[in-house]
Amino acid sequence: MSGTKLYEGKAKILFTTDDPNILLSRYKDDATAFNALKKGSIANKGEMNCAIASHIFQYLEAQGMATHFIKQVSPNEMQVVAVKILPIEVVVRNIAAGSICKRLGLEQGQPLKKPLVEFFYKNDDLGDPLITDAHVAMLDLATPEQVDQLKQLALDINQHLQTFFDRCNLLLVDFKVEIGVDVNERLLLADEISPDTCRLWDKAISDPTARIMDKDRFRQDLGNIAEAYQEVMNRVLAT
Ligand code: TMP
Repeated sequence: MSGTKLYEGKAKILFTTDDPNILLSRYKDDATAFNALKKGSIANKGEMNCAIASHIFQYLEAQGMATHFIKQVSPNEMQVVAVKILPIEVVVRNIAAGSICKRLGLEQGQPLKKPLVEFFYKNDDLGDPLITDAHVAMLDLATPEQVDQLKQLALDINQHLQTFFDRCNLLLVDFKVEIGVDVNERLLLADEISPDTCRLWDKAISDPTARIMDKDRFRQDLGNIAEAYQEVMNRVLAT
């Protein structure tokens, strides 16, 4: 029932369906990092991330959050609402890791006083640069009202995800979300929530490398990548 390919991203392909308001999102095993400078694949990642994302979207819907998720239709495919994705990657951080450590000299693993919301311009040619509200306005990426909504949405999602992952005995260090606008101008959580887009540390492990359960294992060549995703999936599906 998949129609024509609408868009192929680094980790997913979007297809049209018979219904113009519904798209099919197919999750791939491909993995990239550093704006696709590093390329590879993680065995079974498409199915694992599709299962994880489906479960989390349903959890968030049950908490009253609006998402693009309709239903999972195969091990690596889900139906989603057709939306216009805002060209802004919204990152929420609870603990310092990754690019903020490089940018601001923070120590990896340092808890932040309160969750931090950052905007990145979704533009591969520019390497997704960090932007401010003023840049969003200047580039017309979203209205001032949408910017306020994005920040609140990101913080609400963070609260729900922190609770959820805590039950999985995983620490939600940070994550990235993409937000879409539907035909009624409503903002919907889109894209995916998975170990590709979240930093997750095993709460039972103190070793700073061994505890990493997300795509940083791929980014940093730490090994046991598929095993970490599998473990996250097992815990998510059991929660
Ligand atoms: P960063 O520390 O590299 O800025 O990443 C912050 C979070 O965003 C982290 O959980 C990984 C996620 N992320 C993506 O989902 N896609 C990306 O392209 C990048 C750079 C980060």
